[in-house]
Amino acid sequence: MSAYEWIDHTYDVVVVGAGGSGLRAALGAAQAGLKTACISKVFPTRSHTVAAQGGISASLGNMGEDDWRWHMYDTVKGADWLGDQDCIEYLCREAPAAVYELEHWGAPFSRTEDGKIYQRAFGGMTCNFGEGPVQRTCAAADRTGHAILHTLYGQSLRHAAEFFIEYLVLDLIMDDDGACIGVTAWKLDDGTLHRFRAQKTILATGGYGRAYFSATSAHTCTGDGNAMVLRAGLPLQDMEFVQFHPTGIYGSGCLITEGARGEGGYLTNSEGERFMERYAPNAKDLASRDVVSRSMTMEIRNGRGVGENGDHIHLHLDHLDPDILAERLPGISESARIFAGVDVTRQAIPVIPTVHYNMGGIPTNYHGEVLTKVGNNPDQVVPGLMAVGEAACVSVHGANRLGSNSLIDLVVFGRAAGRRCGETVQPGAAQRELDSRAGEAALLRLDGMRRADGNVRTAQLRLEMQRIMQENCAVFRTQEILDEGVRRIAKVYENSSDIRINDRSMVWNTDLVEALEYENLIAQAAVTVNSAAARTESRGAHAREDHPERDDRTWMKHTLAWLAADGSVKLDDRPVHDYTLSDDIAYIEPKARVY
Ligand code: FUM
Repeated sequence: MSAYEWIDHTYDVVVVGAGGSGLRAALGAAQAGLKTACISKVFPTRSHTVAAQGGISASLGNMGEDDWRWHMYDTVKGADWLGDQDCIEYLCREAPAAVYELEHWGAPFSRTEDGKIYQRAFGGMTCNFGEGPVQRTCAAADRTGHAILHTLYGQSLRHAAEFFIEYLVLDLIMDDDGACIGVTAWKLDDGTLHRFRAQKTILATGGYGRAYFSATSAHTCTGDGNAMVLRAGLPLQDMEFVQFHPTGIYGSGCLITEGARGEGGYLTNSEGERFMERYAPNAKDLASRDVVSRSMTMEIRNGRGVGENGDHIHLHLDHLDPDILAERLPGISESARIFAGVDVTRQAIPVIPTVHYNMGGIPTNYHGEVLTKVGNNPDQVVPGLMAVGEAACVSVHGANRLGSNSLIDLVVFGRAAGRRCGETVQPGAAQRELDSRAGEAALLRLDGMRRADGNVRTAQLRLEMQRIMQENCAVFRTQEILDEGVRRIAKVYENSSDIRINDRSMVWNTDLVEALEYENLIAQAAVTVNSAAARTESRGAHAREDHPERDDRTWMKHTLAWLAADGSVKLDDRPVHDYTLSDDIAYIEPKARVY
């Protein structure tokens, strides 16, 4: 242990993660005159936001009338009434300004004939409180995330945010009063160890899609911040809600944007039937994602899947004008060719519901401040700690997120967090010296893992975990299957102590990086499957065949899950916010969710 030495840094604000929300938060804090560091395990423009395709929702009304209240209604309904309506109001009301800001910073949006930002239709987005489809999703062809990420990185540099690139953040540094005072990190290219002291630490570490076998998420999506929160003895919220995107390419899991259906694409079964007309007579192929994914799964189960094994579905774009495909969907046309060998102008794309997004995460309020439950107070702010983006559960997506509400969540709440730092952090204020033992637990964990000489390789444990999550915590769930999942994940968790690392180096040790990421993933797998086993109702993405109805009386509440070191999970809950922020819109009462 004594061989290690810390390199210490002091900032007003430290942001962990450089995707859309992390960059927007770092930019906001830097704009507020705060000394801001942004730490990322990958080069910022390789963060997973770069893969976002179809667009970013905001009621600009460029393609017809629109209103932020309609957007709010759709989001509340899409969330199956599990979203906090104060936060949803904030999201939808702030969305247009956040998008115009991106435009003014140079984000290269596609344009209408008259030069406005082009907007396309997306699932569950309607006009006039559910009446008919609306074009609300602002797009840069089908590479919107790429356009936004590059814009935000450029602006962050312009405002002098400082970047620490290819540093793996290990853990939060918490003081004795339960406040977060910074993070520990390992610099991958030279093996040095760092402590970042900060008045505010913002986690923007994304989702944990890689806990599953087939996901649209990058291999880096290991939910590192979520796991740090669990290790700090804080809860994660609503982890049972895992979104399956209807159109991952069969076999590779690569995303085919919902924008493909927004531009007129449709799904068919082995009989050539446009089956969504039966499941969602109004919205059809543009029903919300949970509804479309379940309908596809039912078609496959009922023997109407396509392909040799009848185990997937066809997505048709072959009836669309090739010029439109080239202009608006160039990226997925290329992905379909590379990953499915399909020419979209002539052939259908083989697709299957694929894990895409985590509605659950670190509980926060709409300023991005992390919450925990203490005694009877379910909304106790954790001093010094904030979270944004997919890592956070604000909760605006509730039980099911609408497509294109993720990118807007990143920029609206990244911006809110930057603003909050501006309001609450005094530039350059003196910070207490770090105790010489601060960060020691992270060091012990890193060193222990580096020397691990058990019998099981990380890849084997990870594969077991991913297969279990795919089999036991999927689109349809029952008590029996989930209970089995709880037992199987607990076993893998236990076996993790027998892990073996072959490379003992501290420099570019990808073996060790993968082991630490796996450790983060298995923690989240445990809370996810336990949370799912406990919720005996169907709501949004959590579809219980043995409890097919939504049960507002018992289950209109957020799940909170804590993880103990032995892998056991403790569950509790906090109420859903049933109020709005202003008189401009009243609380939207729960009702049956049909499309
Ligand atoms: O389908 C898509 O383009 C994905 C968008 C999203 O998840 O918001």
